[in-house]
This record gives sequence, C-alpha cells and structure tokens, in this order.
Amino acid sequence: MQVYVYRNEEQVAQAAAMIFASQISAKPNLVLGLATGTTPIPTYQRLIAMNREGLIDFSQVRSYNLDEYVGLEPNHPASYRYFMNAQLFDHVNIDKANTHVPSGLGDVEKNAEAYDAAIEEAGGIDLQLLGIGHNGHIGFNEPNPRAFIYKTNVVTLTPSTIQANARLFEKEEDVPRQAISLGIGGIMNARRIILLATGRGKAQAVRDAVQGDITPLLPASILKAHRNVQFLLDAEAASLL
Ligand code: PGA
Repeated sequence: MQVYVYRNEEQVAQAAAMIFASQISAKPNLVLGLATGTTPIPTYQRLIAMNREGLIDFSQVRSYNLDEYVGLEPNHPASYRYFMNAQLFDHVNIDKANTHVPSGLGDVEKNAEAYDAAIEEAGGIDLQLLGIGHNGHIGFNEPNPRAFIYKTNVVTLTPSTIQANARLFEKEEDVPRQAISLGIGGIMNARRIILLATGRGKAQAVRDAVQGDITPLLPASILKAHRNVQFLLDAEAASLL
C-alpha cells in the first residue's frame, strides 16, 4: 500500500485524474471500477475537463460501478445510475452501453451473480476507484463481525451509512435499507486500486485502514493485502496517521 498526502481535495482530484489518463492512454479499452459519493466528484470534474481538452478519450473505456440501492429506478435522482450519468457519463465521450451499474430492481440475488460474471467476462477491472465510509466500508461492504463477503451481494446498510447518505434524500426514512454491492473479492481482484479520502471526518477510518490490523470490522483494512493500491489523501484525512 502506498499513501500519498496532498494539501487539499483539488490536488487529490488532480492526482487521481492523472492516473486515469495514463492508464487509459496505455490501454484505451480500460475497464474502470467506479464509485459514487461526494469524494470522487472533484475527480470526475477533472476527468470531464481533461476529456474536453482532448487529454483523455473514453470512447472505448468500459466501466462497472461498485453499488446501487435496492428498489430505486435508474432515473430516481438518488440512484447511483443517475449520479454517474449526471456527474460523469453525460459529459464525456463514453459509450453509455459500456457503462454498468448493478441493478437493484427485480431478482437482486440473480443480478448480483450476473454482475460478477459480467466483470469476469470483460477481463476484470483494471483500475478501481474507491471512497471510504466513516465506518471503513468500501463499496457498500459494511463492517461485519464474522467475515469479509467476497461476492457481489445484497447488503443491509448500517444506521451510520443510512444517516450519512440521508442528505441525498428528502427524509432519512426514504433511504433504502438495502443495496447491491460489489464484494470484497471483486474489489481485490482489480489490478490496481486507488482510494480517495478527503476531510477530517475520514481521518479515523483512514488511520484504522492504514495502521490497524486486517479485520472485517474495518473492510478497507483488507486493501493492505493488495499489491497495487494507492491511498490519495488530503491533509485532513491524513491527520491521524
Ligand atoms: P462519501 O462516501 O464520498 O460520500 O464520503 C464514501 C463512501 O461511503 O464510500
């Protein structure tokens, strides 16, 4: 694991976008693993700007998102499909047919199985972008006292995650209680992982992930066992290291 600390979130975004640019230029049909949340938004804005400037070409890029709420239609403003379209896909030259977000509708168990198979068929994820939850979750893989869950699965969100995500809904009761999430195995199978964390609120989870033991109680701690992972942090997120 390599840890890089930047002055602020703009510099984190610039560093992350440069990694995307170099990987896509080396392999134009790169398979990206993408994340939602507040943290990656500045990175997506940099990617949009670089695409406009002709510095990144998404025309052959394929993408698989980490997660989606169970029960939300893709056009629901709080769905992760909607987020990805609004924050990135609508503004770059990616072919939407090459973008994938797990479906939280219908038979979600079956969707979960099909998602892992589709990623495998695409040749696996080349570059996985991650955020980190206040409780150390990655994707929607919440702390679990027993084990890491390896396959894409249907997860029950913890009260702290529901609370953290309530800002995107009218009321906290509207936040779905379940989500479908790429599993820890799917994340760890990525050839390269970059985790972004910004702000003081993430400092404890970052500290535990970087300096604590590997434990399913802090899902991000497993990243220490990956051979090509970089944490890109701003000074506040790194303040307890
Ligand atoms: P955030 O979410 O970027 O909105 O803080 C990160 C996460 O929960 O993984």
